[in-house]
This record gives sequence, C-alpha cells and structure tokens, in this order.
Amino acid sequence: MARITASVYTSHVPAIGAAIDQGKTGEAYWQPLFKGYDFSKQWLETNKPDVVFLVYNDHATAFSLELIPTFAIGTAAQYNPADEGWGPRPVPKVIGHPELASHIAQSVIQDDFDLTIVNRMDVDHGLTVPLSLMCGQPGEWPFKVIPFAVNVVQYPVPSGRRCYNLGKAIRKAVESFDEDLNVQIWGTGGMSHQLQGARAGLINRDWDNQWLDKLIDDPEAAAGTPHIDYVRESGSEGIELVMWLIARGAMADVDGGPKPTVKHRFYHVPASNTAVGHVILENNR
Ligand code: DHB
Ligand code: FE
Repeated sequence: MARITASVYTSHVPAIGAAIDQGKTGEAYWQPLFKGYDFSKQWLETNKPDVVFLVYNDHATAFSLELIPTFAIGTAAQYNPADEGWGPRPVPKVIGHPELASHIAQSVIQDDFDLTIVNRMDVDHGLTVPLSLMCGQPGEWPFKVIPFAVNVVQYPVPSGRRCYNLGKAIRKAVESFDEDLNVQIWGTGGMSHQLQGARAGLINRDWDNQWLDKLIDDPEAAAGTPHIDYVRESGSEGIELVMWLIARGAMADVDGGPKPTVKHRFYHVPASNTAVGHVILENNR
C-alpha cells in the first residue's frame, strides 16, 4: 500500500530559481534564505520519497486565460521545465508516475472532485523552484513527481475548504494504491505578496505567522479562512496559500489519526517581493 509519510510547504519565488541557476546563493541577499533550507535538504536525503505529489500553480505558462482548469492532475511520463521568457531553467526534466497519477484521478473524481487530466504540459517556476529549494542541483530529480496544478490566478479560485477536503480525498486515493510507495505531498506558493497595484510589495509578517500556527495546529481554522482575508491581509498573490491546505488535508490527523511532528519551520522576508514560508510535517503512522 502506498502511504503519505510527510508534507512539505514552501514558497516558490522565481528569483530564487534564478539565484540558484546563476550561482548566487552565497550572496548576502540570498544567504539567509537558503540557510533556511539546509535542514530540509538533509531531511529529504534521509526521508527520500518514491513520489512527490506536488501541488503548485501554473502562472499562465502551460495554461492561459483561454483555458483555466481549477484542479489539473499530471498523468504524463515526463514534463519539461517551461520557458517563462528567459529560456527554460537549466534543471532536470521532471519524471512523472502515470500509474499512481491515473489511480488518484480515478479515485478522487469518483469522490466528486472534478479534475482536469493533463497528458502533456511544461512546468513553470511554481513547480521547479520548490524542487530546487529542497533538492539543490542534482543531475536528475531524486524521485518521481505528480504535478497537481491549482488555479489561483483567475477568479473564481477554489476555497480553502475545498482544497482541504480535496487533500483528504487524495490521501484516501494514495492509500488505496496497491504498490508499496513512500509518497510525500508538497503544498507550494505564498506567503504574503502582491506583485501589482498600489499595494505592490505588501508583506504582513504577523498574519503570515498566525496562519502558519493555524496550518500546523488548527488546520480546520486555516481551511475556514475566507478569500478576502488572504487578499486583504497578505496581498493579492497571498491567495496562493490555499494550495498548502491540499497538502495539510492529506495528513493523518485530519481524519482522526495522530498529530504530525513539526520537523522544521522557517520564515524569511524578503525574497524578491515575497515573504517565504516553509514547514515540514511528518506523519506519525
Ligand atoms: C514573485 C512571486 C511569485 O509567487 C510569483 O509567482 C512571481 C513573482 C516575486 O516575488 O517576484
Ligand atoms: Fe506565484
């Protein structure tokens, strides 16, 4: 049986990818940010998953205003890093897990979440920057990845509650897969940021950290956060945080299991326009 052993949460700022790709991680501006991931890289070495179910958002790269799936699951065998305007990032291609992805699609759709099936797409910084933060610069990514794209760009975007409940359905799907697989679920994007308009550059440390407290200790309350709170308190792109609730909803305590262990928590401002949040939770069953 496949199992979700841990969830990882991290922001996904494109400039972080550029800093890694251009060898700037040791610069004074970036050093404190990357230091926050030293533990995580080591942790991942000793807790190497077979598959990461990676919840992220596409930034008008694979999709556009012409086609806006609310939830899209990647069932392909591989995905190429996207060209977002400066050429594709020099990172390995992403190897999928079509069998597990198809199984999850089957199970979750029968559980009344209507997913879009994606058999071909390129993956942008939303997916590749979290991989780089957690894995560094390997010749190939050390596990398979199921990309799961969420629309947080064009309203109406899904509610936090919907995302949280979807996470529960994903855990059930993973646990009904026959093969013994160690699966992690990653929720990415956030935290405070607003990239345009009069409030561009907005950062709200207090709100971000209170939300992290809730995510960890009272995920029901985090799931109940209305859209307007994210946008008012953490800026227009702060809404990316609803994606973390998919990962949190897939943890065992949500359905009466034991509380997860907080292995790591990190918060840093700024990275480009964004407050970076990062948490690792380990399941205890
Ligand atoms: C930035 C952050 C993002 O999440 C994003 O998708 C694009 C840009 C930024 O802070 O620059
Ligand atoms: Fe983003």
